[in-house]
Amino acid sequence: MIYEKIINRRTIRRYLNREVPRDVLIRCVDAARLSPSMANKQPLKYIIVNDEELLEEVFSTLHWAGYLPDFSPSKEEMPRAYIIILLDREISEYGDYDAGIAAMSISMVAYDEGLGTCILASIERERLREILRIPEKLEIKLVVALGYPAERPIIEEMEEDNVKYWLDNQGTLHVPKRKLEEIMFWNRLNTPPA
Ligand SMILES: Cc1cc2nc3c(=O)[nH]c(=O)nc-3n(C[C@H](O)[C@H](O)[C@H](O)COP(=O)(O)O)c2cc1C
Repeated sequence: MIYEKIINRRTIRRYLNREVPRDVLIRCVDAARLSPSMANKQPLKYIIVNDEELLEEVFSTLHWAGYLPDFSPSKEEMPRAYIIILLDREISEYGDYDAGIAAMSISMVAYDEGLGTCILASIERERLREILRIPEKLEIKLVVALGYPAERPIIEEMEEDNVKYWLDNQGTLHVPKRKLEEIMFWNRLNTPPA
């Protein structure tokens, strides 16, 4: 069931040292290709990175888990593939919605194959542009990191508007989520509880 998969998927930031199959990466991009696109312009392009040397270089341009200042995946735990989502500005100036949807399509296809993903917007874009020789007309929107999971984050009910995820003593990540009653309304917006 797609519902179960969507609710059970969590962002994974620590990965096993195991290669991601090529055909899975291709299917991820194919799913992104066929995802909804504003005005059906399909302005996105995708670079798959799986070359060993490039994996390390791309890793060095990414910022992980902003709420955990001491955390970054170790070199052993780093992602084993990336899909870089680019906006072709010659096709459209607007690509944020499309890029978000594409990133989710990629994440769900990968999850279905037993992979973990992390969507990243916190990117040293100019360095990544140089490393991958991306021309100026292509804007770097998002990076999706992929690999087999080496962690199992847990969701928690959010308390007092605290959106910050945290690590416990065992190194397990806990991710607060808002309650359904807080975000869902029927027909008209109620006054939220005080
Ligand atoms: C558009 C977008 C950008 C994100 N950028 C980053 C990022 O730069 N670094 C990071 O570690 N996580 C990033 N994340 C992952 C979020 O932190 C994560 O989705 C959130 O904590 C909720 O956890 P969950 O995906 O397990 O539900 C991003 C997520 C989205 C949707």
